[in-house]
Amino acid sequence: MLLQVRNLRCGYGSLEIVKGISLHVCAGEIVTLVGANGAGKTSLLRAITGLLPPWSGEIVVQGRHTRGLPPWKGVSNSMVLVPEGRQLFADMTVWENLLIGGYHNPDRLMAMEEILTQFPRLRERSQQLAGTLSGGEQQMVALGRALAAKPRFILLDEPSMGLAPLMVQEVFSVIRKLKDLGVTIFLVEQNAIAALGIADRAYVMETGEIILEGDARDLLHNPEVRRAYLGKGYKEIWE
Ligand SMILES: Nc1ncnc2c1ncn2[C@@H]1O[C@H](COP(=O)(O)OP(=O)(O)O)[C@@H](O)[C@H]1O
Ligand SMILES: [Mg+2]
Repeated sequence: MLLQVRNLRCGYGSLEIVKGISLHVCAGEIVTLVGANGAGKTSLLRAITGLLPPWSGEIVVQGRHTRGLPPWKGVSNSMVLVPEGRQLFADMTVWENLLIGGYHNPDRLMAMEEILTQFPRLRERSQQLAGTLSGGEQQMVALGRALAAKPRFILLDEPSMGLAPLMVQEVFSVIRKLKDLGVTIFLVEQNAIAALGIADRAYVMETGEIILEGDARDLLHNPEVRRAYLGKGYKEIWE
């Protein structure tokens, strides 16, 4: 098991946001956590990576208890977070962004070459400033920057945010490809249709709690999930 979270609680000041969450991710899986805006998804990822000190509970990353450790101690190079909003170095080129992602990887040049082969669009634009790319291209750079560290495990925070539907499809097909390359993925998303469409297993989060979990396909067809998260467009897209 790459990640195990047990009864995790955290928040800001005295306000509890993550209210006792338990979940796990096994090697080779795409696991998604879907939930509406404000559910506490980003706070959960911050707690898992040590950016937000948890109040209680357990976090086990590849067999090691990391709760209470700062990110530079708790997160090994084999686990990388792709943060919400991409957070690229906008005034640096695509190539330089990848280089920074591979800072701790002695084989970074080889990893970068592989990334540029996997993402031909990034090779074309390797000398372009990251801030001048389209939203979808920026998300690819954010993924590429994470891959430059050669991680076994990637945590993705809302990669679909701000992207047009076609771009969401493109980015998600890249995420699916990462699984085939042997990378394990924990995908946090508001876009439940897209996320449940590529995931193996899923958790549904509502105001800081997991209210449903199971096989992603089953959840995609679960009437409760459809009503709450998928909206009216669901039928036309999937049936
Ligand atoms: N730095 C912060 N200080 C205080 N409250 C915060 C902070 N960051 C997020 N919150 C609150 O925590 C709740 C959950 O936010 P967040 O984890 O970003 O949810 P999500 O990623 O699911 O949209 C929201 O009500 C938000 O206002
Ligand atoms: Mg968020």
